[in-house]
Amino acid sequence: MIVYFNEKYLPLDEVKISPYDRGFHYADGVYEVFRTYHGKPFRFASHIKRLKYSLNELNICFNDLKEFEFISLNLAEMNKILPEDFSVYIQITRGVQFPRKHNYENNLTPTVFVSVSKIKDNSEQLDKGVKIILEEDIRWTRCDVKSVSILPSTLAKTKAVNQNAYEAIFHRDNKITEGSHTNFFAVKDSVVYTAPLSNFILEGITREVVIELCAENKIKVIEDYIRVDQLKGFDEFFITGTTTEITPVIRIADSIVGNGLPGKVTRLIQKYFREYVNSI
Ligand SMILES: Cc1ncc(COP(=O)(O)O)c(C=O)c1O
Repeated sequence: MIVYFNEKYLPLDEVKISPYDRGFHYADGVYEVFRTYHGKPFRFASHIKRLKYSLNELNICFNDLKEFEFISLNLAEMNKILPEDFSVYIQITRGVQFPRKHNYENNLTPTVFVSVSKIKDNSEQLDKGVKIILEEDIRWTRCDVKSVSILPSTLAKTKAVNQNAYEAIFHRDNKITEGSHTNFFAVKDSVVYTAPLSNFILEGITREVVIELCAENKIKVIEDYIRVDQLKGFDEFFITGTTTEITPVIRIADSIVGNGLPGKVTRLIQKYFREYVNSI
């Protein structure tokens, strides 16, 4: 597998990362994931804007963000993935600092890593829906930054997988924020609800697309918190993400949602999403 590391394309096993990289010591870095549809990066500008925001919020200086489109297409070609679609993982840490100390120096050179992977077939989960579990949101209060420091998310996701669920959905003070790697939506009387943008959630690009598609198709969206103690009052649920796309939720822990089949509004939004990605 060929990856991109600090301005070079090289085999994965030739990548050398210093143990003094602040990414290793402090998870001092950010990441981004985007994917292609029909070979073209999807909402690339939005992903780059979000990456820039995360870098700025952590005061990491790195500007060559537009290059990632070219780099990822090169990697897809080198890894013989083309013409299939692929996802791209970008990680930028603040860089190497010796000796180890908490406060960062301003003149560090960021460590940059990019890899590409084939898109896994998710047709079964899109068609049948998935189980989720609920977990208390113990993450920090800057979830708007896509930092690599996501241990609460990896722990919650592992718990979900161990319970045969696809995703763990977080709640804070009875309010649902988002999933470990997805945004969460509920539907009641054909109105769509999702948590408002704030420091408690990541501004999901798929979330943004869903809200746009709903507006175009006259489906009302209310950006307000879904409360855990009111979950039973909703008709449908779905989760969104770059590789998760629009995945119906048919089970929350041990409770079956409705009749256990993806809901009507969820199906409609999936259809609008598919038509949209096929049209660009
Ligand atoms: C915490 C969190 N929320 C939401 C999302 C979904 O964002 P997007 O639709 O941009 O993939 C992600 C994606 O990784 C995430 O990590």
